[in-house]
Formats: sequence, structure tokens, C-alpha cells
Amino acid sequence: MRGGFKIQSRILLNALSLAGLLIVLTTTGCRQDMHDQPKFFPQRGTTFYADGRSIRPQVTGTVARSQGDPASYLHTGMIDGKEGDMMPFAATADVLARGQERYNIYCTPCHSRVGNGIGMIVQRGYYPAADFHTLRLESAPLGHFFAVMTNGLGTMPDYSQQLTPEDRWAVAAYIRALQLSQHATRADIPAGTRVEKLKDIAAREGLPDSFTKPWTALQTAPQTAPQTAPAATPITTPQTASSTTTTQPPATTAATASSTTKQAAAAEHTPAAATSEADTPKPVHTSPKRDVAAGQAIYLKNCSICHQPTRAGMPPVIPALIGIVDKVGEDRIRGVVTTGIPTGKPPMPSFADKLSADDINNLLGFLNTK
Ligand code: HEC
Ligand code: HEC
Repeated sequence: MRGGFKIQSRILLNALSLAGLLIVLTTTGCRQDMHDQPKFFPQRGTTFYADGRSIRPQVTGTVARSQGDPASYLHTGMIDGKEGDMMPFAATADVLARGQERYNIYCTPCHSRVGNGIGMIVQRGYYPAADFHTLRLESAPLGHFFAVMTNGLGTMPDYSQQLTPEDRWAVAAYIRALQLSQHATRADIPAGTRVEKLKDIAAREGLPDSFTKPWTALQTAPQTAPQTAPAATPITTPQTASSTTTTQPPATTAATASSTTKQAAAAEHTPAAATSEADTPKPVHTSPKRDVAAGQAIYLKNCSICHQPTRAGMPPVIPALIGIVDKVGEDRIRGVVTTGIPTGKPPMPSFADKLSADDINNLLGFLNTK
């Protein structure tokens, strides 16, 4: 019986492996079509399309996304190698609204809502950001603002990642509107626009008294401040900056915008200060009179020891100051003079306790000369 059992078990084994083989064969047979999927291979032809090409030509009228011609004005802002002074597309009210929104998100931390360069982080010690209401920036072409956003400038980072070219232009247009708003008169407001007094807005929105006072630009603040405390440094006088400048105008813009019917954007951005109490608008930024001779004396006394009486400096250690205003801008110089450059090699000292705001204005008058 022992031998009989062996034979039986061998037959059983054979039967089992045959069944196993059958299962394998039948199941693989089922998957055959999945191994044979019709598809296109890159750079290889096909018989599927009549033209034999597997890569299909673009549908007529296809619009490129996030690309476009990198050499176009939209992307460069340059015309014949110079910053252009026009928009690559129409600055409609929608474009300005978009610009305002983007500006308020990306630029206000440093430039403030009104663009006077004393945003919150500047008040907390960051380099003074540019005041857009200076003669230089008011006469700067639109393409300049586009270029600064695209490439950054000095201590200002670039915004080319955060803002599409279209958005950068929208922000540039909005900055121009901010600038124009400072010289707006009643005549600029379209008929039928609702104009509210600051007092009424403040009462309705429960805003403090300081809201109704006109804001001061970085440049004009010093005149009222004592000589010993150079108010030009927002870092040393955060109270002045916060109570009379940055905090109220945003509310103004917001309140005005929300209470007017959506008219031309220029009217929306008209500072209520100009349209309220006084019928004659007072431009907030008045460029102070500068005494160039006094500025030269200040220069010779304080700066010439390093930057040389001729302003030629001692490159590469001490930079020349000839043409420095065009190169880095007045705001930068103001900042450098008040805070110094402690990280410089050698460091440049701060003149905050030596020079008043008037002194610095006169000094800038001198540095502006050829
Ligand atoms: C982190 C702070 C910061 C932010 C945010 C910022 N800026 Fe600036 N910006 C500066 C500083 C600082 C300067 C002065 C740079 C210098 O002169 O070195 C400046 C200068 C400028 C200037 C003056 C250029 C000139 O010719 O002097 C323009 C225009 C400008 N910024 C536009 C913008 C716009 C538009 C935005 C928002 C998209 C923006 N900035 C966001 C810090 C900032
Ligand atoms: C003790 C020497 C010294 C004195 C005094 C001095 N500076 Fe400077 N200044 C420097 C040095 C060094 C640098 C370059 C620092 C660096 O960037 O590393 C510099 C840089 C500058 C810059 C260039 C900033 C830039 O962004 O390119 C300006 C503007 C400037 N100084 C203005 C002045 C003015 C105005 C005075 C007088 C009120 C003055 N400096 C006095 C040493 C001095």
C-alpha cells in the first residue's frame, strides 16, 4: 500500500501544477490588451492623423499664458533703451482698482498706503522707502516704477515673482494716481461724485480726531520738529509718523472709495483732505526751499573728510558723491545720512544728532548740483 500512496500523490501533484499553469496562462491572456496601449511617442510619427504627425499644431488663436514676447514693452518697460512713459494697455478703472489692491498688499509695508515711504516696517527701523510725492518721482516715467518692481533697487527687493507684468503696470498706474491725488482740485472730480468731509467720515466710522488732519510727508515733517530731534528719521520718531501719517490716509481712501459711486479712479483717490474743509486744496508735499550754499558748507564740514572736497571720494573704499542723487535717489541719501552705514568697510557714521532736517535738505540741494 505504501507504493500505491506515492503514485497517487505524484498524480495529484501533477494535476495541481497543471491547474496552476492553466491559471497563469489564462490570467496573463486577459491582460494582453493592457500591454499593448496605443500611444504617441515623442518625435515619432503616427498613422492616426492624416498628416502623420503625433504632435498637434496649436489651434489658431491659442493664447500663451505667463509668456508672451519677452522683448515687448509689456515685459521691458523700455522704449529705445529708455524707460517708457506710457501704459502697454489702457489704464481703466478696473486696472487702477487692481493696482490699488496689489499696491496695498505688496508695497504698503514700506511705502505706506499714501506712498510717503513711511510704512510700518520703516517705522520699525527698515531703510526709509521712497516717498512717491517728490518732484523726482512725480516726473519719473511710468516705466521707472515698472523697472523698480521688476529689478528691485538698492535695499528694495524686486517683485517680479509676486506680480505679473500686467500687475506691475497696474501698480505703476495706481502710484501715478496717488501722485496726482496730491495735486487734485475740485475740478478734477467728475460731476455727480459724492464728496464727503473728513469730519463726517470720521464721525460715521468712529475714527479719532487725528484722522481729519492732513498727513505729512517725510520731507515736510521736520519743519515742525525741534532741531535736536531730526524728525526726518522715521526710526527715531515713530509717533509722528504713525499718528499723523500712515494710519489715517488708508482709512481716507477706503472710506472715500466705499462711499462714492465707482467713478473715475482719480476721484476715488482724491484725498478727502483736499475736498473737505478748504475749497482751495493744499498740496501735501511742498518741496522745501533749499539753500545750496549752506548745503555746501555742511558738506565741507561733515562729509568732505571722507568723500573729499571735490566729491570724488576715494574709490573703491569711499564712493564718489558726484551725480549721487541721480544714482541712488534722495530718499536713500537721507536714510544713509541719518542712519549711517554701520556695516560699511569702513563704516559711515550717522549724522542724526549733527544735522537737522533743514540741514539735510540744504545738503541735498548741494548734492543735486553738478
Ligand atoms: C521691504 C520694503 C519695501 C517694499 C515692500 C517695497 N519697497 Fe519700494 N523701496 C524700498 C526702499 C528701501 C526704497 C529705497 C531704495 C534705495 O534707494 O536704496 C524703495 C524705493 C522705491 C522706489 C523709488 C525708486 C527710485 O528711483 O528712487 C519705487 C518707485 C518703489 N520703491 C516702488 C515700490 C513698489 C511699487 C512696491 C510694491 C510692489 C514697493 N516699492 C515695495 C522698500 C520697499
Ligand atoms: C568717516 C567717513 C565718512 C563720512 C564722514 C561720510 N561718509 Fe558717506 N560713506 C562713507 C563710506 C565708507 C561709504 C560706503 C559704505 C559702504 O557702502 O560700504 C559711504 C557711502 C555714502 C553714500 C552712498 C550710499 C549708497 O547707497 O551708495 C552716500 C550718499 C554718502 N556716503 C553720503 C555722505 C554724506 C552726505 C556725508 C556727510 C553728511 C557723508 N557721507 C559722510 C564714509 C563716510
